[in-house]
Formats: sequence, C-alpha cells, structure tokens
Amino acid sequence: MLATQQPVLRRFWYPVMPLEQLDDGPKPFRLMNEELVLWLDSEGDPHAAEDRCAHRTARLSLGWVEGDNIVCPYHGWTYDGGGGCVRIPQTPDRPAGRAKVRAFHAEARYGYVWVCLGDPLTDIPHMPEANEPGYRVIHQFYEVWRTAGLRLMENSFDNAHFSFVHRESFGQFDKPIPARLNIVEEDFGFRFETVAPVNNPPLQKKLLKMDSDTTERHMTSKWFMPFGRKLNIRYPNGLVHAIITYATPIDDEHSMICQWAYRSDSEEDAPAQQIIAFDRQVTEEDKRVLESTDHDAPLDTASGEERHMPSDQPGMVMRKMLMALLARFGEEEARVSGARIPMKEKAS
Ligand code: FES
Ligand code: CO
Repeated sequence: MLATQQPVLRRFWYPVMPLEQLDDGPKPFRLMNEELVLWLDSEGDPHAAEDRCAHRTARLSLGWVEGDNIVCPYHGWTYDGGGGCVRIPQTPDRPAGRAKVRAFHAEARYGYVWVCLGDPLTDIPHMPEANEPGYRVIHQFYEVWRTAGLRLMENSFDNAHFSFVHRESFGQFDKPIPARLNIVEEDFGFRFETVAPVNNPPLQKKLLKMDSDTTERHMTSKWFMPFGRKLNIRYPNGLVHAIITYATPIDDEHSMICQWAYRSDSEEDAPAQQIIAFDRQVTEEDKRVLESTDHDAPLDTASGEERHMPSDQPGMVMRKMLMALLARFGEEEARVSGARIPMKEKAS
C-alpha cells in the first residue's frame, strides 16, 4: 500500500511536530507528500496550511508570524489560519479578495501539533495517563526513518521479533514462540493483552529496580489506524511504562517517528535520560531491520507476495482492516507498479 495514494488516509490525525519547535516561528513539514507550513497564533494554537504562497509560490515557512497570521517572506502577503489572504501590503486600499492557500485541521495535543488533511474520520486517540496523577511524560524520539508506516506498525505488535531483533537488549533468543493473541477489533483499530518473558539487562535492572536477570512484560497493545500504537507495559513490581509511537507518513518511503512515554515512577527513581537511552537501543535494533524492508507492504495477504506465520496475526488483522477501510471508501490499494522494489543500498 502506498499511503500517499490512498485519499482516505488523509482523514486521520497525525502528530507532525513537537509544539515547542514552533516557538521561534513557522516551520515546514511534509505530510503524505503535502508541503505544509505550521505556525502558532497569539493564543498558542497551531495552524497548518499549504506551504506555497498564492502570489509567486514562495514558501510561507520562510516567513514569520504576525499576530495570528503568517506573512509571506517575498512580498508580505498575509494569511489567516483559514488560509484566506487578509493583507496585500502593496494594495492596502483594496480588499485582499480571492487569494487564498489551502488550510488544514490542526490541534495541539500531548506536546505535539496534530494535523488532519481531510475531514476527520475519528478523534485524536485519548491517552488517559496524560491527565492522571502519578504519571510523568518523557518525550523520546522525533526522527525520520526510511520505512513505511505499515512496516513499523506491524513490527510494533509482532512479539516474534523480540528473540531475534532484540536479542542483545531484552529478547530471549531461546524462546522464539510468542503467546497466541486474542485480538479485539475496534472502530479504527484493535487491542490485545499478552504476557511476554523478557531479559532484564543491567540498565533495565537499575531502571526497573528489579534484581532478576529475567522478568515479564504484561502488555496491553492498542493500534490506532493507520499508523499509531500504544504499548502499555506493566512489570511484576507494578511499574508502568506506556509508549506511544506514531509513524507519521512523510511520503511512501519515509516516516516521522514520534515516540513519547508515560511512566509511573519518578525522575529520582529512573532518570528520563537513562530511560531514553534504553529505549534508544531497542529502537535502533528495530530501525536497522525495518529500513531494510520493501516500503510497499501488500495488504492482500493471499497474494503470495509475502509468506506468513501464526505470530503475524496482528499485522494480518491490520492489513485486513485497512483493505476493508479502502473498500468502504471505494478505493483500490495503490502499489508500486511492476514487481519487487530493488533492495536499498546498504549503508557502508
Ligand atoms: Fe508571497 Fe509574493 S510570493 S507575497
Ligand atoms: Co522491536
């Protein structure tokens, strides 16, 4: 599936940028191949519009914010949050008239600007920990990966990769068969609960305050269609580490990885920098493998293009639900034309 060519995927919310990155002025972001300008108005509310002035196409993201509006750096045409041109400095006596740029839905939530390019089908997912006492938030990663959203999503729910991809961090190489899952399908997503045995390497021992070499992760996993997941991990000592990861589609080959965590312990118990360092190791292990996969993952699991095994169940359900979504909106799955995409060059 090529995300940028499935119009229905424009109707979901994606986190696109940490809000604080807009404190010093407008910034560009490419979402599903749409070049956007993002800015904060005088109330601190975010706006998103086409990053291309209606006059001579200059990038508005090179301009500046004046009050609630964005000013083009080239001749100063000024646009409001709805994309309407409200001022043309060279013709102050005439109404700015019909000039406008396309504007998109933008919201501030969980420290990020979220954007929906179309008419939203669902809300931004609710994260109860964001408002519950006893949790702190740790912003972990905001970085581009050369992988498609679906690849990262199915990886996030695939407990069979722990023993291999994560054998140097928490995976148990001698326990390659994960528990069967009972996946509960929901509107625009699914959830399941499972328990996985894991290794407890030295840094984790310290962060979890658990002495044993192995432990168990009690996991509640949620998929937010199309490219969001929440993994709530509870350790036997009651500690909760809930991670939210979005693979925001930049284009068909690149995702902006937005990851933050809610923790039930305190900064004195476990410094955020050390928690990030451990999750960084784990994430790098995933990244290396995911960037080696073809970006165009087929939704049709019966096509024979890829082989499957029982532990692929979350990814299979994901593909089935995405197929049903496309069908519901009268879309065909867009694919890279021709056969297999060439292997990506290996980094030296
Ligand atoms: Fe934007 Fe001229 S190009 S004002
Ligand atoms: Co992984």
